[in-house]
Amino acid sequence: MRRLRTAILISGRGSNMQAILDAACSTAHPAEPVLVLTNRPDAAGLIIAETYGVATTCIDHKPYGKDREAFERAMQAVLEEHNVEMVVLAGFMRILTPWFVGQWSERMINIHPSLLPKYPGLHTHQRAIDAGDADAGCSVHWVTEGVDQGRVIAQARVTIEPEDTAETLAARILPEEHALYPIAVERAALEILQRQKA
Ligand code: GRF
Repeated sequence: MRRLRTAILISGRGSNMQAILDAACSTAHPAEPVLVLTNRPDAAGLIIAETYGVATTCIDHKPYGKDREAFERAMQAVLEEHNVEMVVLAGFMRILTPWFVGQWSERMINIHPSLLPKYPGLHTHQRAIDAGDADAGCSVHWVTEGVDQGRVIAQARVTIEPEDTAETLAARILPEEHALYPIAVERAALEILQRQKA
């Protein structure tokens, strides 16, 4: 089976990245992790990625200041050096410009901790609690220009309990993210491979 060369972009602890590496480092998975890229030199996930033998690169966004596109052009160069075919955002905390999104149209996915289309953006868990919602969850979606707006690939749902805080709810959703993301990466990779054949 041809496997899709995949980069995972992180900014922090990298627990979703680790869940994906656990699943996709097997040759039976259609996504082949070839690169972990971060914008933060202190991202804890870098050390984890190295234990899986995956190449890692840091491109610090700070020297680029407000020039987001210059930062992204540096990332794009590294992605091209590694012949990356799909980008997986896993806790990557930079808003992407239309230019970068355009480079990866229909080839970049993200995980978001809400049941999209509800609560794009930040503070999703608190917003779900404040709204009195019965449930909350996480979504994996294709990345488009609108933040957290792209077509949903997969979702997982948990019940909101009366005593939940944003922290307890986030802690209950996180394992669902870890179960969901490898499956969604597989679906996305198969879809891209299928498109390439058509
Ligand atoms: C996750 O909750 C994800 O939904 C959000 O950022 C968090 C990243 O956590 N986009 P980790 O770095 O994968 O542990």
